[in-house]
Amino acid sequence: MKRRKPSYTMHDGFRMPRGFPVEGFASALQYQAQPGDVFIATYPKCGTTWAQHIVYMILNGGEALPPERSVSEVFPHLEEVGKETVAALAEPRLIKTHLPFAMTPYHREAKYIYVARNPFDCAVSFYHHTRGFVKHYDFAEGTFDDFFECFLTGEVDFGDYFDNLMSWYEHKDDDNALFLTYEQMKANPAKAVAAIGLFLGPGAARVVQDSNTLERILHHSSFESMRKDQQRWSSERPHGMPEFVRKGTVGDWVSHFSGDQARRLVEKFSQRTRGTGADELWPDIVEAARHWA
Ligand code: PPS
Repeated sequence: MKRRKPSYTMHDGFRMPRGFPVEGFASALQYQAQPGDVFIATYPKCGTTWAQHIVYMILNGGEALPPERSVSEVFPHLEEVGKETVAALAEPRLIKTHLPFAMTPYHREAKYIYVARNPFDCAVSFYHHTRGFVKHYDFAEGTFDDFFECFLTGEVDFGDYFDNLMSWYEHKDDDNALFLTYEQMKANPAKAVAAIGLFLGPGAARVVQDSNTLERILHHSSFESMRKDQQRWSSERPHGMPEFVRKGTVGDWVSHFSGDQARRLVEKFSQRTRGTGADELWPDIVEAARHWA
């Protein structure tokens, strides 16, 4: 059976969305990270924008990003805009990246927040993203079954999920790294915001220790609040396509995965994480997927 595949642009063997200029990617890799830079690093669809908004608010006294502004202005995506745009940001520079660790510009006094999400929900979210950004991927008619094959083999933009996760997982205990999961953020958002504040330094820690400000940050970073004014997070999607802030749940994978797909992803998860500690990141979900298979 012939499967549909999304379209990508290749940059040095790396798949990228077609809208990302080749020059932006090449120049991104040349960016010299600076002391004080704050990177949010993720594999796509793992909670990037949510974490970006939390960091933005912590550094802006608990004020939400206003409806007329775009997160990409204040927290640009390095691979999309390239090094000049990022270098010109006011300090502390806030930088989004989907690069694996080895490709991400590094400075020991820069800070790296990595958000991981279980691969089952990530695959579903990534599928809706890929069919929704029709201009980037030309995949409006693609099915989850089509997309799953690409996800499993890592033939999607920003490469293989496990290459990205494992490259950052190795650095989870570095002094300048904070490793979070989407599921922890969902289970206890206040704890996640407090951890981010503490990680960003004494000024930020004081911001999140103020209970009114913390409440404001939690309110404006909730799924319900971030569903509003979505032009802040992404360009508009064609009518009938899912919104960018779409469902925001843990466990949506069961509405898309077949038993065979669950089995194959559990198998890859085991192969890639066994004995590393990462195999314990989502025990309930992996167990549920084993039963689903
Ligand atoms: S991207 O395109 O890689 O930057 O996407 P990313 O922001 O990493 O991931 C998008 C998914 O995160 C969900 N989201 C949220 N979940 C819970 N709470 C909040 N506040 C929130 N904001 C965004 C968003 O809905 C996408 O997940 P799915 O499963 O598709 O709903």
